[in-house]
Amino acid sequence: MIRKVSVDVESVNMRKYGLRRVAELYSTGGWMPPEVAIIADYGSELRKAMTLELGAGGGRLTAALATISKSLVATDFSIPMTRKLKERLPGITVSQVDARNLHSFRAEEFDLCWFGYNGIDSIPIRDRRTVFSEVRNVLRCGGLFIFSTHDRTFAETAARTPIPVRPWRLGETKRFFRCVFNRARMRRYQEFGEDYALVNDRALNFGLMTYYVDRKWQNELLAEESFRVLSVYATDGSRWENCEQPTDKWHYFVCKAI
Ligand SMILES: C[S@@+](CC[C@H](N)C(=O)[O-])C[C@H]1O[C@@H](n2cnc3c(N)ncnc32)[C@H](O)[C@@H]1O
Repeated sequence: MIRKVSVDVESVNMRKYGLRRVAELYSTGGWMPPEVAIIADYGSELRKAMTLELGAGGGRLTAALATISKSLVATDFSIPMTRKLKERLPGITVSQVDARNLHSFRAEEFDLCWFGYNGIDSIPIRDRRTVFSEVRNVLRCGGLFIFSTHDRTFAETAARTPIPVRPWRLGETKRFFRCVFNRARMRRYQEFGEDYALVNDRALNFGLMTYYVDRKWQNELLAEESFRVLSVYATDGSRWENCEQPTDKWHYFVCKAI
């Protein structure tokens, strides 16, 4: 008999997001093509928005959102991430917030909520509906919810990704062994269901457990929580109105609160 091994996804992922070097990592780097495309396409809405950023990390995108939004509250669940945010962007409002509990904000307080770079995929899947419903509650009717997530279609491929570094290359030995160690420990926790998969992909040197969700299933959840998907962006920044065809491992979604 094969014994199914389960994992506390939240503790595994928050252990990684609680590291100072990881906070440092998510404070650097430029905007990604879908983010540039969304800012170009929805610029007029974004510019007059009272914005809430969830899972802001070390502020990679936050500086841009602060420049274009009317007002911005940047949040993250991890304390080192919020510390990094405050250090990097001293002028903005930062608070430690779990995306599953937005009760510290008023109903309909925001015009825009941005949960970028697949942060939602680190949260236990049973809580995805709660995230959607909490976000919907703090958004005004007609407001936008922008987030990205991995696609179920690519879960098996992502689970088979080879370790991308070679131990004999200068400076890569330590990273190689970190990947081997993490992968050996975590791959037994993987799950491949119809609506979602839980994958130990290459993110953070195979240090995270990440959800890959079925598009149709997620669209139903979004509809039940009063969101309509307006458009979907691929990692190269191209845009679809019709979101039936997954083209990439992850996509950005722009949804309207209805
Ligand atoms: C992949 S990082 C992305 C960081 C940043 N948004 C960016 O684009 O660079 C995901 C972020 O989501 C945060 N996160 C994970 N679970 C969370 C939760 N339940 N509530 C709020 N933030 C969470 C992590 O702490 C981490 O900073």
